[in-house]
Amino acid sequence: MNVLLVGRGGREHSIAMKLYESEQVDQLYAAPGNGGISDIAVCTDLDEMDIDGLLTFAVEKAIDLTIVGPENPLVAGIADKFHKAGMRIFAPTKQAAMLEGSKRYAKEFMQKYGIPTASYASFTHAADAKAYISQIGVPVVVKADGLAGGKGVVVAHAIDEAYRAVERFLAADHNQGSTSSIVIEECLEGPELSLMAFVHGSNVYPMLPARDYKRAFDHDKGPNTGGMGAYAPVEDVSAETLERITNTVLQKAADGMKKEGHPFTGILYAGLMMTEEGPKVIEFNARFGDPETEVVLPLLKNDLLQVLLDVLDGKDPQLSWEPKHCAGVVLASAGYPEAYEKGILLPDLTPEDSVIIVHAGTRITADGLVSDGGRVLLAGSRGDTLTEAINGVYGWLERRHIQPERFFYRRDIGQIVLAEDSAV
Ligand code: AMP
Ligand code: GLY
Repeated sequence: MNVLLVGRGGREHSIAMKLYESEQVDQLYAAPGNGGISDIAVCTDLDEMDIDGLLTFAVEKAIDLTIVGPENPLVAGIADKFHKAGMRIFAPTKQAAMLEGSKRYAKEFMQKYGIPTASYASFTHAADAKAYISQIGVPVVVKADGLAGGKGVVVAHAIDEAYRAVERFLAADHNQGSTSSIVIEECLEGPELSLMAFVHGSNVYPMLPARDYKRAFDHDKGPNTGGMGAYAPVEDVSAETLERITNTVLQKAADGMKKEGHPFTGILYAGLMMTEEGPKVIEFNARFGDPETEVVLPLLKNDLLQVLLDVLDGKDPQLSWEPKHCAGVVLASAGYPEAYEKGILLPDLTPEDSVIIVHAGTRITADGLVSDGGRVLLAGSRGDTLTEAINGVYGWLERRHIQPERFFYRRDIGQIVLAEDSAV
């Protein structure tokens, strides 16, 4: 079979590695891919958002299945275009992707179907939003309605800070010419958990639970990022709780979208806070999480292509998992998530022992492999215990002798940390 993978990050490299193991994949193409993906797939220089270009490419290359990594093409309607052309794609339609594409839509949907989440109100006018904030007080969470690449959430501990977020998000929306909307949410407390599932209509097949680390620095300090590390499975959450989340969140969401006339096909990702009142949803994503995918897929025993085909055919893919642990630590460019330099030569990336190197922002040049993004790579490792997996990654990273003026990584992946200060 010919497969086209859309995307260029660590998540996509991890999906590509898993597809590479499949005997059913004859040719794997990636658009646009990265320095790691190009070792195992044919990369084509098409942007993720060039949906017409991707469709033409898929038709030309007789692609049997297209898999989409990032959210933007989903929200832009890549699945709808492929369906219209009779091409198979494992992705939600534009309407179904609204679960991720609009925070307001997601909140209204959760309320309608009784899915546990933080209480909220949505606003289009700054004055109303501020009046509401002054009434409920801080801490409070302010969220931009649309896709913001991880930059649309502020957990404010001071009224001023919340007001500033309101102004900033509404102004940004105005600049893009879109309808301005923000969501103001109750601030939840507790450890976070990510649970992803393969979904097709009412069929929901959950993966192993994972925990990611969104803040830039140790002990959850610093700004939010695209993710600085992750591990799976998460042992402090019982099998019973996972079943409860599957039933009260994922299954309800799948059934609800079907009732809405927008059945969901693809990866449904629930970002949850384990509060004293039970698990509550902080966000839905309509795609594989990054970096969760990089620590979950290495534990999947099944052939990933077969899983996706089974799910699309309405068959139970019979998911089976290694009884192991996987941890991943992101190596980022100094300065990330603010300004950083690109094109810096990377240290020797030869994997040792059980270490898996997942490329995120890398590029091959005549001088060798160089950095090409804020998150450069993820070093992952499997182990019989979480400690073994973590030690495997940190041992490997220490032997790279990373220069702090060039790259950095968090040293506390695997520990439970509760966010305290604000995320900007
Ligand atoms: P999101 O983009 O919705 O995943 O939010 C990014 C991060 O902001 C989450 O991972 C949480 O750490 C934090 N966050 C989002 N919503 C809430 C909430 N209601 N209460 C506390 N923290 C939140
Ligand atoms: N790890 C969070 C996300 O993929 O959005």
